[in-house]
Amino acid sequence: MIQWYPGHMAKAKKEIQSQSKYVDIICETLDARAPRSSANPMLEDILENKKQLFILNKADLADQELIKEWLAYYGDLGFEAIAINAKKPKDIEHLKKKLKVMGRPFREKWRQKGMKQQALRLLIVGIPNVGKSTLINQLCRKKVAAIGDKPGVTRGQQWVNVDKDFILLDTPGVLWPKFSNEKIAQNLSLIGAIKDTHYHADDLCLYAMAFLDQYYPGTWQSYYKILNMDNTIAYGDQLLYLSDKMGYKDNYDQAAEHFLRDLRLGKLGKFVLDRLDEEVYDNE
Ligand code: G4P
Repeated sequence: MIQWYPGHMAKAKKEIQSQSKYVDIICETLDARAPRSSANPMLEDILENKKQLFILNKADLADQELIKEWLAYYGDLGFEAIAINAKKPKDIEHLKKKLKVMGRPFREKWRQKGMKQQALRLLIVGIPNVGKSTLINQLCRKKVAAIGDKPGVTRGQQWVNVDKDFILLDTPGVLWPKFSNEKIAQNLSLIGAIKDTHYHADDLCLYAMAFLDQYYPGTWQSYYKILNMDNTIAYGDQLLYLSDKMGYKDNYDQAAEHFLRDLRLGKLGKFVLDRLDEEVYDNE
């Protein structure tokens, strides 16, 4: 079931490698609900010693405690990281402040060399649907064209002003999701970063129910007002029960899709799928 796109990855890698030559700070946008699954480890090899900022976006949908753990984790590794909601102007201001601090060593170096101070150059990268276009639009307060889910589309790319300190490439670097194990692929499907067609909605829904029961017990049952359901029955039967309650009768595929929509919109509560204490095996 897992699909892997070495061709796309190679192309994306080449594109980002060539773009990164012209930028000072690379902002890897991640989904705060899945910081590990939505990251692309390939980026580390490409960027070498480029300055990098991890932006945990969609923080409004994520479990705040776990976000704190992830930020501390990046900090311990010596990386810069920030959690934001790209749609919230206050968070965008917070991000700009962070970037300004990250820009200080560049400015200091230019000062020491007697060079003219200039705007630092930023590039937003990330896998599809993590909020790259939203972020670019918010940072430069103008509508830039969405480029879809194609890696490495750079035609007609332009620099746009963020403020006097920064300029930004108006199209993001699109990384292909790296789903090298089943769990990562399922997490990416759950947050909507890869198309639903990779998994049947019912399978994904059962996975989500079990995850929520383990880490956020009672959340979905409480949202759907089915707290009195016998939760010792198999998840397939729980889905059938829910389907009936939702009015879909035994059409549990519709119920599963409904459940996934609600989950992605945050109606079933804030969550983080990737836990720092779990071991993740790379099947690559
Ligand atoms: P991409 O360029 O990385 O592919 O992502 P894009 O900006 O298109 O954002 C994907 C979806 O995520 C959009 O929703 C966008 O509004 C939403 N989004 C982006 N940042 C945030 C955030 O911080 N919090 C929340 N809750 N949502 C965010 P959409 O439903 O696809 O489109 P629309 O409803 O905005 O039109």
